[in-house]
Amino acid sequence: MTNFDTVIIGAGAAGLMCAWQTGLRGRSVCIIEHTQKIAEKIRISGGGRCNFTNMYCSPDNFLSQNPHFCKSALARFTPYDFIDMMDAHGIDYHEKPYEEKTGNENARGQMFCDHSAGDIIDMLRKGCEDTGVTFYLGTKVYDVAKNSDVFDLETDRGTISCDKLVIASGGLSIPKIGASNFGYELAKSFGLNIITPRAALVPLTFEQNLLSQTKEFSGISMDAYVTCAGASFREGLLFTHRGLSGPSILQISSYWNEGKDITINMAPEKDIFTHLQHARDTRPKQMIRTILSEIMPARLIPLILDNIKDDTRIADMSNVSLQTIATLINTWAITPKGTEGYRTAEVTLGGVDTKGISSKTFESHKVKGLHFIGETLDVTGHLGGHNFQWAWASGWCCAQNL
Ligand code: FDA
Repeated sequence: MTNFDTVIIGAGAAGLMCAWQTGLRGRSVCIIEHTQKIAEKIRISGGGRCNFTNMYCSPDNFLSQNPHFCKSALARFTPYDFIDMMDAHGIDYHEKPYEEKTGNENARGQMFCDHSAGDIIDMLRKGCEDTGVTFYLGTKVYDVAKNSDVFDLETDRGTISCDKLVIASGGLSIPKIGASNFGYELAKSFGLNIITPRAALVPLTFEQNLLSQTKEFSGISMDAYVTCAGASFREGLLFTHRGLSGPSILQISSYWNEGKDITINMAPEKDIFTHLQHARDTRPKQMIRTILSEIMPARLIPLILDNIKDDTRIADMSNVSLQTIATLINTWAITPKGTEGYRTAEVTLGGVDTKGISSKTFESHKVKGLHFIGETLDVTGHLGGHNFQWAWASGWCCAQNL
Protein backbone atom coordinates (compact mmCIF):
# COMPACT_ATOMS: atom_id res chain seq x y z
CA MET A 1 0.00 0.00 0.00
CA THR A 2 1.27 3.51 -0.89
CA ASN A 3 0.28 6.50 1.25
CA PHE A 4 0.00 10.19 0.36
CA ASP A 5 -1.44 13.15 2.21
CA THR A 6 -3.41 14.08 -0.92
CA VAL A 7 -4.36 12.20 -4.08
CA ILE A 8 -5.73 14.14 -7.06
CA ILE A 9 -7.51 12.25 -9.84
CA GLY A 10 -7.14 13.94 -13.25
CA ALA A 11 -4.04 15.74 -14.55
CA GLY A 12 -5.84 18.51 -16.40
CA ALA A 13 -5.87 22.25 -15.75
CA ALA A 14 -7.55 22.13 -12.32
CA GLY A 15 -5.76 19.00 -11.09
CA LEU A 16 -2.27 20.21 -12.01
CA MET A 17 -2.81 23.65 -10.43
CA CYS A 18 -4.12 21.97 -7.28
CA ALA A 19 -1.24 19.45 -7.15
CA TRP A 20 1.41 22.16 -7.60
CA GLN A 21 -0.06 24.45 -4.95
CA THR A 22 -0.63 21.59 -2.50
CA GLY A 23 2.97 20.44 -3.02
CA LEU A 24 4.12 24.01 -2.32
CA ARG A 25 2.45 23.72 1.08
CA GLY A 26 4.68 20.77 1.96
CA ARG A 27 2.12 17.96 1.54
CA SER A 28 2.91 14.65 -0.14
CA VAL A 29 0.81 14.66 -3.31
CA CYS A 30 0.08 12.09 -5.99
CA ILE A 31 -1.75 12.93 -9.22
CA ILE A 32 -3.36 10.03 -11.04
CA GLU A 33 -4.15 10.31 -14.76
CA HIS A 34 -5.68 7.47 -16.74
CA THR A 35 -4.17 8.53 -20.08
CA GLN A 36 -0.44 8.60 -20.80
CA LYS A 37 -0.35 12.40 -21.20
CA ILE A 38 -1.11 15.32 -18.90
CA ALA A 39 -3.20 18.36 -19.84
CA GLU A 40 -4.33 17.34 -23.30
CA LYS A 41 -7.13 19.93 -23.31
CA ILE A 42 -4.71 22.72 -22.54
CA ARG A 43 -2.56 21.52 -25.43
CA ILE A 44 -5.39 21.63 -28.02
CA SER A 45 -7.09 24.75 -26.67
CA GLY A 46 -7.19 28.14 -28.35
CA GLY A 47 -5.89 26.74 -31.64
CA GLY A 48 -2.74 25.52 -29.82
CA ARG A 49 -2.16 28.84 -28.05
CA CYS A 50 -4.57 28.34 -25.10
CA ASN A 51 -6.99 31.15 -24.28
CA PHE A 52 -5.81 30.77 -20.69
CA THR A 53 -7.92 33.46 -19.00
CA ASN A 54 -10.14 36.44 -19.56
CA MET A 55 -9.30 39.78 -17.96
CA TYR A 56 -13.01 40.57 -17.50
CA CYS A 57 -13.89 37.21 -15.94
CA SER A 58 -16.71 37.60 -13.42
CA PRO A 59 -19.43 35.38 -11.91
CA ASP A 60 -21.76 36.66 -14.68
CA ASN A 61 -19.71 34.63 -17.14
CA PHE A 62 -20.79 31.32 -15.58
CA LEU A 63 -23.85 29.07 -15.72
CA SER A 64 -24.75 26.96 -12.69
CA GLN A 65 -27.85 25.91 -10.75
CA ASN A 66 -26.13 27.67 -7.84
CA PRO A 67 -24.86 30.93 -9.38
CA HIS A 68 -23.28 32.25 -6.15
CA PHE A 69 -20.97 29.27 -5.73
CA CYS A 70 -18.21 30.48 -8.08
CA LYS A 71 -17.92 33.97 -6.54
CA SER A 72 -15.54 33.21 -3.69
CA ALA A 73 -12.91 31.34 -5.72
CA LEU A 74 -13.03 33.81 -8.63
CA ALA A 75 -12.42 36.65 -6.16
CA ARG A 76 -9.57 34.87 -4.37
CA PHE A 77 -7.67 33.76 -7.47
CA THR A 78 -8.07 36.26 -10.30
CA PRO A 79 -6.77 36.46 -13.89
CA TYR A 80 -3.99 38.73 -12.55
CA ASP A 81 -2.85 35.96 -10.20
CA PHE A 82 -2.50 33.54 -13.10
CA ILE A 83 -0.71 36.16 -15.17
CA ASP A 84 1.73 36.69 -12.28
CA MET A 85 2.56 32.99 -12.50
CA MET A 86 3.10 33.28 -16.27
CA ASP A 87 5.37 36.31 -15.73
CA ALA A 88 7.37 34.48 -13.07
CA HIS A 89 7.97 31.67 -15.58
CA GLY A 90 8.83 34.00 -18.47
CA ILE A 91 5.85 33.02 -20.61
CA ASP A 92 4.85 35.62 -23.19
CA TYR A 93 1.19 36.30 -23.88
CA HIS A 94 -1.12 38.79 -25.56
CA GLU A 95 -4.74 39.91 -25.57
CA LYS A 96 -6.65 38.96 -28.71
CA PRO A 97 -7.37 42.15 -30.65
CA TYR A 98 -10.92 43.25 -30.01
CA GLU A 99 -12.93 45.11 -32.63
CA GLU A 100 -14.41 48.12 -30.84
CA LYS A 101 -16.80 48.93 -33.65
CA THR A 102 -18.78 45.71 -33.32
CA GLY A 103 -19.49 46.40 -29.66
CA ASN A 104 -18.80 42.71 -29.15
CA GLU A 105 -18.34 42.72 -25.38
CA ASN A 106 -17.86 38.95 -25.19
CA ALA A 107 -14.71 39.01 -27.26
CA ARG A 108 -12.87 41.34 -24.87
CA GLY A 109 -10.03 40.40 -22.55
CA GLN A 110 -9.18 37.03 -24.12
CA MET A 111 -5.57 36.17 -23.24
CA PHE A 112 -3.47 33.79 -25.36
CA CYS A 113 0.12 32.47 -25.24
CA ASP A 114 2.37 34.12 -27.83
CA HIS A 115 4.19 30.88 -28.49
CA SER A 116 2.30 27.73 -27.54
CA ALA A 117 -0.09 26.20 -25.02
CA GLY A 118 2.81 23.89 -24.22
CA ASP A 119 4.41 26.76 -22.26
CA ILE A 120 1.58 26.57 -19.72
CA ILE A 121 1.77 22.78 -19.52
CA ASP A 122 5.54 23.05 -18.89
CA MET A 123 4.95 25.62 -16.14
CA LEU A 124 2.40 23.37 -14.39
CA ARG A 125 4.54 20.25 -14.82
CA LYS A 126 7.66 21.99 -13.51
CA GLY A 127 5.71 23.45 -10.57
CA CYS A 128 4.59 19.94 -9.66
CA GLU A 129 8.03 18.37 -10.14
CA ASP A 130 9.76 21.08 -8.09
CA THR A 131 7.41 20.47 -5.19
CA GLY A 132 7.81 16.68 -5.31
CA VAL A 133 4.41 15.73 -6.73
CA THR A 134 4.27 12.05 -7.79
CA PHE A 135 2.75 11.47 -11.24
CA TYR A 136 0.99 8.16 -11.91
CA LEU A 137 0.15 8.33 -15.61
CA GLY A 138 -1.73 5.62 -17.51
CA THR A 139 -3.19 4.53 -14.17
CA LYS A 140 -6.77 3.38 -13.68
CA VAL A 141 -8.72 3.79 -10.45
CA TYR A 142 -11.18 0.89 -10.10
CA ASP A 143 -12.69 1.60 -6.73
CA VAL A 144 -12.63 4.24 -3.99
CA ALA A 145 -13.66 3.44 -0.42
CA LYS A 146 -13.56 5.54 2.70
CA ASN A 147 -12.39 3.62 5.75
CA SER A 148 -12.71 5.83 8.84
CA ASP A 149 -10.68 8.97 7.90
CA VAL A 150 -8.70 7.43 5.03
CA PHE A 151 -9.55 6.93 1.37
CA ASP A 152 -8.37 3.65 -0.17
CA LEU A 153 -8.08 3.66 -3.95
CA GLU A 154 -7.86 0.35 -5.81
CA THR A 155 -5.71 0.98 -8.87
CA ASP A 156 -3.67 -1.04 -11.32
CA ARG A 157 -0.65 -0.01 -9.21
CA GLY A 158 -2.20 -1.59 -6.14
CA THR A 159 -3.91 0.18 -3.24
CA ILE A 160 -3.14 3.88 -2.77
CA SER A 161 -4.37 5.57 0.38
CA CYS A 162 -4.73 9.23 1.30
CA ASP A 163 -6.32 11.57 3.83
CA LYS A 164 -7.59 14.04 1.23
CA LEU A 165 -8.98 13.06 -2.15
CA VAL A 166 -9.53 15.61 -4.93
CA ILE A 167 -11.59 14.76 -8.01
CA ALA A 168 -10.40 16.78 -11.00
CA SER A 169 -11.41 14.40 -13.78
CA GLY A 170 -13.26 17.06 -15.79
CA GLY A 171 -16.45 16.72 -17.85
CA LEU A 172 -17.53 14.55 -20.78
CA SER A 173 -16.35 16.58 -23.76
CA ILE A 174 -13.87 15.05 -26.22
CA PRO A 175 -13.81 11.44 -24.95
CA LYS A 176 -11.05 10.51 -27.40
CA ILE A 177 -8.50 12.52 -25.38
CA GLY A 178 -9.53 11.16 -22.00
CA ALA A 179 -12.88 12.59 -20.87
CA SER A 180 -14.84 10.19 -18.67
CA ASN A 181 -17.81 10.14 -16.31
CA PHE A 182 -15.54 9.12 -13.42
CA GLY A 183 -16.23 12.22 -11.30
CA TYR A 184 -20.00 11.92 -11.62
CA GLU A 185 -20.05 8.19 -10.85
CA LEU A 186 -17.78 8.62 -7.84
CA ALA A 187 -19.92 11.50 -6.54
CA LYS A 188 -23.06 9.36 -6.91
CA SER A 189 -21.41 6.42 -5.14
CA PHE A 190 -20.85 8.72 -2.13
CA GLY A 191 -24.48 9.89 -2.23
CA LEU A 192 -23.87 13.32 -3.83
CA ASN A 193 -26.31 14.88 -6.28
CA ILE A 194 -25.54 15.38 -9.99
CA ILE A 195 -27.07 18.11 -12.17
CA THR A 196 -27.75 16.29 -15.44
CA PRO A 197 -24.77 16.91 -17.73
CA ARG A 198 -25.14 18.05 -21.34
CA ALA A 199 -22.81 19.24 -24.08
CA ALA A 200 -22.21 23.01 -24.17
CA LEU A 201 -20.10 25.46 -26.19
CA VAL A 202 -20.98 23.16 -29.06
CA PRO A 203 -22.12 23.60 -32.71
CA LEU A 204 -25.86 23.27 -33.37
CA THR A 205 -27.32 20.90 -35.95
CA PHE A 206 -30.40 21.25 -38.21
CA GLU A 207 -33.06 18.77 -39.29
CA GLN A 208 -33.05 17.70 -42.94
CA ASN A 209 -35.55 20.29 -44.22
CA LEU A 210 -33.69 23.28 -42.81
CA LEU A 211 -30.35 21.75 -43.71
CA SER A 212 -31.39 21.40 -47.35
CA GLN A 213 -31.88 25.21 -47.40
CA THR A 214 -28.62 26.07 -45.66
CA LYS A 215 -25.94 23.48 -46.33
CA GLU A 216 -24.90 25.06 -49.65
CA PHE A 217 -23.79 28.05 -47.53
CA SER A 218 -21.36 25.92 -45.52
CA GLY A 219 -18.16 27.89 -44.88
CA ILE A 220 -19.80 31.35 -44.88
CA SER A 221 -19.07 33.36 -41.76
CA MET A 222 -20.39 36.71 -40.53
CA ASP A 223 -20.85 38.90 -37.49
CA ALA A 224 -24.21 38.08 -35.86
CA TYR A 225 -26.30 38.76 -32.77
CA VAL A 226 -27.80 35.52 -31.51
CA THR A 227 -30.50 35.24 -28.83
CA CYS A 228 -32.04 32.34 -26.90
CA ALA A 229 -33.80 32.02 -23.54
CA GLY A 230 -33.02 35.62 -22.58
CA ALA A 231 -29.28 35.39 -23.36
CA SER A 232 -27.66 37.19 -26.33
CA PHE A 233 -24.19 37.11 -27.83
CA ARG A 234 -22.72 39.17 -30.60
CA GLU A 235 -19.82 37.31 -32.18
CA GLY A 236 -18.94 35.41 -35.35
CA LEU A 237 -21.37 32.88 -36.87
CA LEU A 238 -20.41 30.11 -39.29
CA PHE A 239 -22.66 28.01 -41.56
CA THR A 240 -21.56 24.36 -41.51
CA HIS A 241 -22.63 21.25 -43.43
CA ARG A 242 -24.55 20.14 -40.29
CA GLY A 243 -26.03 23.49 -39.15
CA LEU A 244 -24.34 26.43 -37.44
CA SER A 245 -21.14 27.05 -35.50
CA GLY A 246 -18.84 30.00 -34.68
CA PRO A 247 -18.39 31.77 -31.33
CA SER A 248 -21.92 33.26 -31.14
CA ILE A 249 -23.48 29.82 -31.70
CA LEU A 250 -21.14 28.06 -29.24
CA GLN A 251 -22.05 30.65 -26.62
CA ILE A 252 -25.81 30.36 -27.19
CA SER A 253 -25.65 26.54 -27.19
CA SER A 254 -25.11 26.72 -23.41
CA TYR A 255 -28.57 28.34 -23.08
CA TRP A 256 -30.38 26.31 -25.74
CA ASN A 257 -32.59 23.31 -24.94
CA GLU A 258 -34.26 20.88 -27.31
CA GLY A 259 -37.37 22.31 -28.98
CA LYS A 260 -36.41 25.93 -28.27
CA ASP A 261 -35.91 28.60 -30.97
CA ILE A 262 -32.84 30.73 -31.43
CA THR A 263 -33.08 34.11 -33.15
CA ILE A 264 -30.29 35.37 -35.36
CA ASN A 265 -29.71 38.96 -36.41
CA MET A 266 -27.38 38.78 -39.40
CA ALA A 267 -26.99 42.57 -39.63
CA PRO A 268 -26.79 43.76 -36.01
CA GLU A 269 -25.83 47.29 -37.03
CA LYS A 270 -28.86 47.92 -39.22
CA ASP A 271 -32.64 48.11 -39.19
CA ILE A 272 -32.94 46.39 -42.57
CA PHE A 273 -36.54 47.40 -43.33
CA THR A 274 -35.68 51.11 -42.95
CA HIS A 275 -32.46 50.58 -44.91
CA LEU A 276 -34.31 48.91 -47.82
CA GLN A 277 -37.06 51.56 -47.90
CA HIS A 278 -34.38 54.24 -48.03
CA ALA A 279 -32.59 52.42 -50.85
CA ARG A 280 -35.88 52.18 -52.78
CA ASP A 281 -36.34 55.96 -52.42
CA THR A 282 -32.78 56.95 -53.32
CA ARG A 283 -31.61 54.35 -55.86
CA PRO A 284 -34.77 52.67 -57.22
CA LYS A 285 -33.08 51.14 -60.28
CA GLN A 286 -30.68 49.00 -58.31
CA MET A 287 -31.26 45.28 -58.07
CA ILE A 288 -32.12 43.87 -54.66
CA ARG A 289 -29.08 41.56 -54.97
CA THR A 290 -26.73 44.58 -55.22
CA ILE A 291 -28.22 46.27 -52.18
CA LEU A 292 -28.10 43.12 -50.07
CA SER A 293 -24.52 42.37 -51.06
CA GLU A 294 -23.51 45.62 -49.33
CA ILE A 295 -24.90 44.23 -46.07
CA MET A 296 -24.04 40.55 -46.08
CA PRO A 297 -21.94 37.88 -47.81
CA ALA A 298 -23.14 37.71 -51.44
CA ARG A 299 -23.22 33.89 -51.34
CA LEU A 300 -25.91 34.03 -48.67
CA ILE A 301 -28.36 36.14 -50.69
CA PRO A 302 -30.27 33.14 -52.14
CA LEU A 303 -31.20 32.11 -48.57
CA ILE A 304 -32.63 35.56 -47.89
CA LEU A 305 -34.47 36.04 -51.18
CA ASP A 306 -35.96 32.56 -51.25
CA ASN A 307 -38.61 32.90 -54.05
CA ILE A 308 -37.78 36.50 -55.03
CA LYS A 309 -35.63 36.84 -58.18
CA ASP A 310 -32.27 38.39 -57.26
CA ASP A 311 -32.30 40.74 -60.28
CA THR A 312 -35.60 42.36 -59.24
CA ARG A 313 -35.28 46.15 -59.15
CA ILE A 314 -35.91 47.46 -55.66
CA ALA A 315 -38.40 50.00 -57.11
CA ASP A 316 -40.63 47.05 -58.02
CA MET A 317 -40.72 45.62 -54.52
CA SER A 318 -43.62 46.15 -52.11
CA ASN A 319 -43.28 46.99 -48.44
CA VAL A 320 -44.48 43.45 -47.68
CA SER A 321 -41.60 41.95 -49.70
CA LEU A 322 -39.07 44.30 -48.09
CA GLN A 323 -40.42 43.43 -44.64
CA THR A 324 -40.15 39.69 -45.37
CA ILE A 325 -36.50 40.14 -46.32
CA ALA A 326 -35.84 42.39 -43.32
CA THR A 327 -37.39 39.89 -40.90
CA LEU A 328 -35.20 37.13 -42.25
CA ILE A 329 -32.06 39.21 -41.86
CA ASN A 330 -32.80 40.89 -38.52
CA THR A 331 -34.78 38.14 -36.75
CA TRP A 332 -34.20 34.78 -38.41
CA ALA A 333 -35.88 32.35 -36.00
CA ILE A 334 -34.85 28.70 -36.26
CA THR A 335 -35.29 25.59 -34.17
CA PRO A 336 -32.08 23.54 -34.16
CA LYS A 337 -32.50 19.77 -34.08
CA GLY A 338 -29.67 19.17 -31.63
CA THR A 339 -25.98 19.69 -30.98
CA GLU A 340 -22.87 17.96 -32.27
CA GLY A 341 -22.56 16.46 -28.77
CA TYR A 342 -19.53 15.64 -26.66
CA ARG A 343 -17.45 14.76 -29.73
CA THR A 344 -16.87 18.47 -30.41
CA ALA A 345 -18.25 20.28 -27.33
CA GLU A 346 -15.73 22.44 -25.48
CA VAL A 347 -17.36 21.89 -22.11
CA THR A 348 -20.02 20.00 -20.16
CA LEU A 349 -22.89 21.88 -18.56
CA GLY A 350 -24.08 20.43 -15.23
CA GLY A 351 -22.06 18.04 -13.06
CA VAL A 352 -21.56 17.64 -9.33
CA ASP A 353 -24.20 19.75 -7.57
CA THR A 354 -22.36 22.59 -5.85
CA LYS A 355 -25.00 22.80 -3.11
CA GLY A 356 -23.19 19.85 -1.53
CA ILE A 357 -19.72 21.45 -1.80
CA SER A 358 -17.98 24.22 0.17
CA SER A 359 -17.32 27.22 -2.08
CA LYS A 360 -14.21 28.00 0.02
CA THR A 361 -12.51 24.62 0.43
CA PHE A 362 -14.23 22.59 -2.35
CA GLU A 363 -14.79 19.83 0.20
CA SER A 364 -18.02 17.84 0.20
CA HIS A 365 -20.26 18.79 3.13
CA LYS A 366 -21.31 15.16 3.44
CA VAL A 367 -18.02 13.28 2.92
CA LYS A 368 -15.14 14.87 4.84
CA GLY A 369 -11.86 14.83 2.93
CA LEU A 370 -13.53 14.45 -0.51
CA HIS A 371 -13.11 17.45 -2.83
CA PHE A 372 -14.28 18.35 -6.36
CA ILE A 373 -12.71 21.03 -8.57
CA GLY A 374 -12.81 22.28 -12.18
CA GLU A 375 -15.28 21.20 -14.79
CA THR A 376 -16.52 18.17 -12.82
CA LEU A 377 -18.56 20.68 -10.83
CA ASP A 378 -21.77 22.28 -12.06
CA VAL A 379 -19.97 25.52 -13.02
CA THR A 380 -19.66 26.27 -16.74
CA GLY A 381 -18.05 29.35 -18.22
CA HIS A 382 -18.70 31.33 -21.35
CA LEU A 383 -16.30 31.04 -24.25
CA GLY A 384 -13.23 33.28 -24.03
CA GLY A 385 -10.91 31.96 -21.29
CA HIS A 386 -13.45 31.73 -18.45
CA ASN A 387 -13.37 27.93 -18.19
CA PHE A 388 -9.61 27.83 -17.65
CA GLN A 389 -9.91 30.66 -15.14
CA TRP A 390 -12.40 28.49 -13.24
CA ALA A 391 -10.03 25.51 -13.39
CA TRP A 392 -7.09 27.59 -12.04
CA ALA A 393 -9.19 29.35 -9.38
CA SER A 394 -10.93 26.22 -8.05
CA GLY A 395 -7.65 24.24 -8.09
CA TRP A 396 -5.72 26.98 -6.29
CA CYS A 397 -8.40 27.64 -3.65
CA CYS A 398 -8.88 23.95 -2.91
CA ALA A 399 -5.11 23.56 -2.41
CA GLN A 400 -5.06 26.23 0.32
CA ASN A 401 -7.00 23.89 2.62
CA LEU A 402 -5.39 20.53 1.83
P1 FDA B 1 -9.71 18.61 -17.90
O1 FDA B 1 -10.64 17.97 -18.87
O2 FDA B 1 -8.76 19.62 -18.37
O3 FDA B 1 -8.87 17.49 -17.15
C1 FDA B 1 -9.42 16.31 -16.65
C2 FDA B 1 -8.34 15.25 -16.66
O4 FDA B 1 -8.83 14.10 -15.97
C3 FDA B 1 -7.95 14.80 -18.05
O5 FDA B 1 -6.56 14.74 -18.16
C4 FDA B 1 -8.57 13.39 -18.16
O6 FDA B 1 -7.86 12.54 -19.01
C5 FDA B 1 -8.49 12.94 -16.71
N1 FDA B 1 -9.42 11.89 -16.36
C6 FDA B 1 -10.70 11.71 -16.78
N2 FDA B 1 -11.20 10.58 -16.25
C7 FDA B 1 -10.22 10.05 -15.47
C8 FDA B 1 -10.14 8.87 -14.69
N3 FDA B 1 -11.14 8.01 -14.60
N4 FDA B 1 -8.98 8.61 -14.04
C9 FDA B 1 -7.92 9.46 -14.12
N5 FDA B 1 -7.94 10.58 -14.90
C10 FDA B 1 -9.08 10.87 -15.54
N6 FDA B 1 -11.35 26.82 -22.03
C11 FDA B 1 -10.81 28.08 -21.98
O7 FDA B 1 -10.96 28.75 -20.96
N7 FDA B 1 -10.10 28.57 -23.04
C12 FDA B 1 -9.89 27.85 -24.18
O8 FDA B 1 -9.18 28.27 -25.10
C13 FDA B 1 -10.50 26.56 -24.26
N8 FDA B 1 -10.40 25.83 -25.41
C14 FDA B 1 -10.91 24.56 -25.45
C15 FDA B 1 -10.79 23.82 -26.64
C16 FDA B 1 -11.29 22.54 -26.69
C17 FDA B 1 -11.19 21.75 -27.98
C18 FDA B 1 -11.91 21.97 -25.55
C19 FDA B 1 -12.44 20.55 -25.57
C20 FDA B 1 -12.05 22.70 -24.38
C21 FDA B 1 -11.57 24.01 -24.33
N9 FDA B 1 -11.70 24.80 -23.17
C22 FDA B 1 -11.19 26.06 -23.15
C23 FDA B 1 -12.34 24.24 -21.95
C24 FDA B 1 -11.25 23.77 -20.98
O9 FDA B 1 -10.35 22.94 -21.67
C25 FDA B 1 -11.84 23.02 -19.80
O10 FDA B 1 -12.88 23.76 -19.21
C26 FDA B 1 -10.76 22.73 -18.77
O11 FDA B 1 -9.75 21.93 -19.36
C27 FDA B 1 -11.35 22.00 -17.56
O12 FDA B 1 -10.29 21.68 -16.70
P2 FDA B 1 -10.40 20.42 -15.74
O13 FDA B 1 -9.05 20.25 -15.14
O14 FDA B 1 -11.57 20.51 -14.88
O15 FDA B 1 -10.67 19.18 -16.73
